Amino acid sequence: MERVIPTKIVIASGYKEMSSLAASFVAGLVQEKPDLVMAIPSGRTPVGMYRQLGGMYRKGGLDLSRATFFLLDEYHGLGPRDKGSFYHFIRQNFMRLVNVPAVHVPDSRFPDAVEAGRRYEEEIASAGGLDLAVLGIGVNGHIGFNEPGRPFDSRTGPVNLTPETISANARYFKTPAQVPREAISMGLATIRQARSVLLLASGAPKAEAVAAALAGPVTTTVPASTLQRHPAFTAIVDSGAASLLSGFPQKG
Ligand code: GLP
Repeated sequence: MERVIPTKIVIASGYKEMSSLAASFVAGLVQEKPDLVMAIPSGRTPVGMYRQLGGMYRKGGLDLSRATFFLLDEYHGLGPRDKGSFYHFIRQNFMRLVNVPAVHVPDSRFPDAVEAGRRYEEEIASAGGLDLAVLGIGVNGHIGFNEPGRPFDSRTGPVNLTPETISANARYFKTPAQVPREAISMGLATIRQARSVLLLASGAPKAEAVAAALAGPVTTTVPASTLQRHPAFTAIVDSGAASLLSGFPQKG
């Protein structure tokens, strides 16, 4: 049986503290390596961290101009100008706030999604590979858009979204019918190859997924559980998201 490495779990009091701990974690790595290569998530969870990073930048304490950013995933068929695209999201919630010249995104409008995924892998490799992957988690335990059942050795490529994920993300669209059913996502092996991984989660609705991911069996049914095998994996979760974890110390 493969060895499961103990995860470093930091339990924050709430969303605000989770966000500032996450921003400090990222800023610390950027200080050590200004040309850091990072995978970054969209979603509600990282918004506070992005704002904190913006605050650090405005105060002159953070320079991201030499770092490289790769979005974890993008909806199939949506381009940068589409309001529902993750690229639009990251431009509004991150790029506007810091000195980040560009964010890479899978070419989700390329007709051959398998090829688009392969090209994204090449872009990551030619940047030197990921130093850090920052992740949120879906209520079903997904990371990026790797839904339950996605193989642990998956690489960037097309994925079908589950009805649960489609309805969770409907808030970004005018009508549920507009939510794309497919996406291109970094694979689980791609994410695991990052030299360091940071998972963020906030609020009671994430508690089950967090407990299963961090303390349950390593299984493709819970995609995030693959991170238990990562040698440099940190989870920063707030007390709501941690409410079904037991035996872990508060704030490290
Ligand atoms: C999405 C994204 C994930 C994100 C997750 C949770 O669908 N593909 O990268 O982590 O859902 O989103 P939220 O942070 O809004 O709960």
